[in-house]
Amino acid sequence: MKNSVTMIDNRTGKSYEFAINDATRGPSVVDISTFYADTGMFTYDNGYTSTASCKSTITFIDGAKGELRYRGKTIEDLANNNSYLDVCYLLLNEELPTKEQSYAFDLELRHRSFLHEDLKKLFLTFPSGGHPMAALSAATAALSTFFYSHLNVNDESEYQEMARRIIAKMPTIAAFAYRHSIGASFIQPDISKSYTENFLYMLRAYPNGKLHIDIDGERVIKAIEIEALDTIFTLHADHEQNASTSIVRGVASTGAHPYVAISSGISALWGRAHGGANESVIKQLEMIGSVERVNEFIARAKDPNDEFRLMGFGHRVYKNFDPRAKILKGLQDKLKDELNLDSNLMQIANEIEKIALNDEYFINRKLYPNIDFYSGVILTALQIPKSMFTPIFVIGRTVGWITQWIEFKKEKGTKIARPRQLYLGN
Ligand code: CMC
Repeated sequence: MKNSVTMIDNRTGKSYEFAINDATRGPSVVDISTFYADTGMFTYDNGYTSTASCKSTITFIDGAKGELRYRGKTIEDLANNNSYLDVCYLLLNEELPTKEQSYAFDLELRHRSFLHEDLKKLFLTFPSGGHPMAALSAATAALSTFFYSHLNVNDESEYQEMARRIIAKMPTIAAFAYRHSIGASFIQPDISKSYTENFLYMLRAYPNGKLHIDIDGERVIKAIEIEALDTIFTLHADHEQNASTSIVRGVASTGAHPYVAISSGISALWGRAHGGANESVIKQLEMIGSVERVNEFIARAKDPNDEFRLMGFGHRVYKNFDPRAKILKGLQDKLKDELNLDSNLMQIANEIEKIALNDEYFINRKLYPNIDFYSGVILTALQIPKSMFTPIFVIGRTVGWITQWIEFKKEKGTKIARPRQLYLGN
């Protein structure tokens, strides 16, 4: 048996043979890199639904089974048994850290969480009320000018340092972007706090560093809140060649600075078809307003003449269920009583889920709730403002982007990402 496919041009009867490369998990690929040279034609794949753009050993998804693995480990195992920082370490180093490595990694990130005073001025140039995602993307690009020397493509330690730095600073950048957007002064990171607690602290604290005080005294950031947000970060850490990651790799292919590549990823993530969906889900649930109106919006989602889509439903890869959504649904149930989840929004969400999962339109198109369908309700319970939902996705995904950037840079023989087109103009 030959490990190849043969393609016949039915106009001429000429046949062409292309090698098949087998994957360790998931579909094999047909190597069509010589297709144009051999046939004089391009291939056309709108939205890259059948195109593998790279080789990778980082993340694996089986969309039919609803399986997600980072470095071979299942997302369920990682979300239940590891901290987000340990997951970051795993993605970057290909194995989970020992206790000592985990401790050292955590400490290093705490100490790297501060921003240069000059970078802070950048946030002030944005209008109050502006969406934090714009400032987040701009500040990440600007960070490249503060660390311009880290471009030695042959030095693994430089990559790793550059990766730890951006992971450490992203919560601070996100918190500063938010605080400026509401006209509040910046809160410096507190190195006595863990990665996830520190982020909540920088969002919530008053200018003197105190948390809200009520009749029972100063509020604390509850352990369950930290645990929930940490799990959300883990679930977002990487997702193989999604839209924003492909953009990061594309920018990497031009030789631009890694933080500029990540800034481009942030911009790509903002759209509501991608990471912006978590904010859109909550806005949509609020717009629907009551369980009685759910049917009306389900009908709109099914109407081919109406552009309305159910936010938080559907996925390019998952066609059975999104394993991240399943974990979040479990987390939502766990948090329901302890965190006073908004019961009206939850009721509307539950009704949408119930109807959609039994409706032929959604069943036939394999449209299931995705991660964003549940994360919004949980983030609302954590008192995270809506405009910060997508920045939270950014914080979680930063490790994925930088790990993919490193993999791209280390691979020999990579080419600039430069697709072709089917020209139909004059
Ligand atoms: N509501 C109603 N209909 C939908 C939806 C939806 N949310 N999603 C897809 N469809 C329909 C679509 O109209 C099309 O129907 P038809 O075949 O009759 O034309 C069919 O399902 C296939 O849709 P598609 O747009 O070709 O599918 P895709 O794989 O290109 O798009 C998607 C995937 C996630 C962009 C899309 O499902 C969507 O827009 N969902 C809502 C936004 C959302 O929740 N995004 C978050 C994705 S998960 C987080 C992340 O990884 O970024």
